[in-house]
Amino acid sequence: MEEKQPIAIIGAMEVEVQALIAGLEETERTEVAGLVFHAGRLSGRECVIAQCGPGKVNAAVCTQIMIQAYRPSLVINVGVAGGVGVEIGDLVVASACVQHDFDTTAMGDPLGTLFIRRGEKESRGLLELPSDEKASAVLLEAAKSIYGHAHSGVVATGDAFIADREKNRWLSEKFGAKAVEMEGGSIAQVCYMNEVPCAVLRAISDNANDDSPQDFPAFTRECSEKTSRLLKRAIGRL
Ligand code: ADE
Repeated sequence: MEEKQPIAIIGAMEVEVQALIAGLEETERTEVAGLVFHAGRLSGRECVIAQCGPGKVNAAVCTQIMIQAYRPSLVINVGVAGGVGVEIGDLVVASACVQHDFDTTAMGDPLGTLFIRRGEKESRGLLELPSDEKASAVLLEAAKSIYGHAHSGVVATGDAFIADREKNRWLSEKFGAKAVEMEGGSIAQVCYMNEVPCAVLRAISDNANDDSPQDFPAFTRECSEKTSRLLKRAIGRL
């Protein structure tokens, strides 16, 4: 029987992927660029899991290696995020991602517009990076059935930990964001460039405000357990 293409799972911090790696029937472990790729079966489904480290460059490098080495049918980014108009402990499945810190407004472009190469053709200007509709719907439905409720919305990504009420309000007004984090929009961009479906699943560890330096360490473990449990249950349907 022909093996299915694997599902790639990426988290930035150890706590975000450790329960998934612990649940993996691991068949192969490979190191590239200092990143460790764990391949095997998770809940019976072929998967490859890696911890990329924080921020957009780490996430982009990890995603490109995964795509080239494992040819995944889907890339899922899991982890925690700062909440924008949602509660600590809530789950957010990205309807799309934006990069809130990509700024060529001085040249007249809308904030967050990305310029994506298309071979010899003109680069394409793009604000919202798409999520895979089917995978996102499966994750949202699983989140609702396990935890009662969940949100679908824009995930805003940038190379900054946000702990500021004004910036939080701005993310909502400018991008309609529901969550802010540091990798999803970068992973979604690499997936878009390679034409690989992508989904982002985040649990809210803090409110991206003055309380975040205390809330983030207090709630990250519990939140990571939530996303891991959900993914183990839903992965067979992805
Ligand atoms: N990840 C979790 N909380 C975050 C925050 N407040 N800002 C950026 N990334 C986060």
